[in-house]
Amino acid sequence: MSNHSTSEAIEREVSRRRTFAIISHPDAGKTTLTEKLLLYGGAIHLAGSVKSRRAAKHAVSDWMELEKQRGISVTSSVLQFPYQDYAINLLDTPGHADFSEDTYRTLAAADSAVMLMDVAKGVEAQTLKLFKVCAMRKIPIFTFVNKMDRWGRKPLELMEEIEDVLGIRSCPINWPIGMGNEFKGVYDRLAEELILFDSAGRHGEARVEEKVMALDDPQAEQILGTTRYEQLLEDVELLDIAGDPFDLQRVHDGELTPMFFGSAITNFGVRPFLDAFVEMAPNPKQARDHKVEPTRPDFSGFIFKIQANMNPSHRDRLAFVRITSGVFEKDMQAQLQRTDRQIKLAYPQQMMASEREMADKGYAGDIVGLYDPGRFRIGDTLYTGDPVEETEIPRFSPEHFAVVEIQDALKRKQLVKGLQQLSEEGTIQVFHQPGKGSLDVVVGAVGILQFEVLKFRLKNEYNVEVSLRRLDFQHARWIEGEDIDEDALNRADYLKVLIDRDDLPLLLLRNDWALNYTLQQNPKMKLLPNPPGTPGLEQLHGSTHGF
Ligand code: G4P
Repeated sequence: MSNHSTSEAIEREVSRRRTFAIISHPDAGKTTLTEKLLLYGGAIHLAGSVKSRRAAKHAVSDWMELEKQRGISVTSSVLQFPYQDYAINLLDTPGHADFSEDTYRTLAAADSAVMLMDVAKGVEAQTLKLFKVCAMRKIPIFTFVNKMDRWGRKPLELMEEIEDVLGIRSCPINWPIGMGNEFKGVYDRLAEELILFDSAGRHGEARVEEKVMALDDPQAEQILGTTRYEQLLEDVELLDIAGDPFDLQRVHDGELTPMFFGSAITNFGVRPFLDAFVEMAPNPKQARDHKVEPTRPDFSGFIFKIQANMNPSHRDRLAFVRITSGVFEKDMQAQLQRTDRQIKLAYPQQMMASEREMADKGYAGDIVGLYDPGRFRIGDTLYTGDPVEETEIPRFSPEHFAVVEIQDALKRKQLVKGLQQLSEEGTIQVFHQPGKGSLDVVVGAVGILQFEVLKFRLKNEYNVEVSLRRLDFQHARWIEGEDIDEDALNRADYLKVLIDRDDLPLLLLRNDWALNYTLQQNPKMKLLPNPPGTPGLEQLHGSTHGF
């Protein structure tokens, strides 16, 4: 292919990509909605019945045994499916409040987010936390109010809550007609049409029948009944007068959230949402903070997630790359920016539900899973041609610490390997104590659940049993400054000096008092919530503490 036709192909491919994540509180219906998006995308033909869906849910995204045992989703998956002419990449994010580090990193790979809420509950704690990350990165947010087949809060009240709690204006793209058993359809405000749903006796396993008519169609009042029809006219007028007009630029700037109403379980409202979403959501070129021009002909991408042993029958490790430019081709050679080494991008995998398919080609916005024999780290950049600016993946300041104690000293080798691999995956942060051997390890976590995951995975994947002795420190700060007497710091019982994986010194501090006092006593020393030179979300985490 000539250069010209290559760049045209890239342009075309990039403009049809939509890469997004769904953020929601557990139980809002994310699994159900994901399944329905796949159904409408034609990637699956019949959505599972309610009962078998639980089993299917495990097959699709709950890879780890631990998740099955606890019934929560700890890891996240990537699904790619077509819809109309669009190529959709859906990044699944874990809903558990304690495992947010992984979710935050996943958002670094998304160009937009769908905020899913339960109509009865509105904005919940987990949604709020994740929303703040989106707001910080100015990721456009689309709101889907789910479970309209049940009684819940009034739509106007939810709009108010979004504004009060999240500080963002909303613009309903459609408006619900009725609620609970009476949820009949939605009014599409842009097309000025009523979309009336009919389940035809099915329970959401297939696409739903729709009847579309103009608002002033004489049949409309007849079908809806005079009271409901008049209420709708009133609501529509109120929204037109008092609401924010639709403004795509404001949506892309993260200032206005388009709002949709539906019921994932019955499929009511899923198609109107998806149609509007693919049109309005930014493609990678329109996404706000892209560091690399997506149509740059040379390939580039960054690793936002590493996951090992996802499937017991493939004991391998995958590094997930978000492509940022050019064309990715299976088995191509690329430069790894951190080490400046040329490597082969082998065994690329694209995730399609539970099946792994070989990916032959990918463009900006796509996610590919590379076979990783242990050479990648989260945040790594890959490129061909000229070096590119690195994409920042937030790192977190851990808030819980524990000393790792091995039960069988003969298993040291496995322990070192396990800790190294799990820290590269971002499951846990690993530190050493200065002057002590490589086995005197302290692990740090943002959420307590990470410790359980660590123990479980060390036992199941590396055959090492450990106990974790919790340390009574609340903060970790990287030390910057000259003439720092680390030994003197280490002598204070409210402090502990550690060394991170890059040999940088950091300080554990017992509590807020210890932090303030140490700063007062050492005016030349700077204490950073993240390693020098890396972006962090410590502030964000701190501000949302207590949920
Ligand atoms: P999650 O991934 O966000 O945690 O939510 P999930 O889809 O698993 O849904 C949580 C519960 O809410 C499930 O019920 C699911 O059937 C139900 N649900 C999802 N969407 C809708 C909806 O539009 N309307 C109604 N009424 N319910 C919905 P469950 O009883 O916990 O599980 P199951 O036995 O139904 O599988």
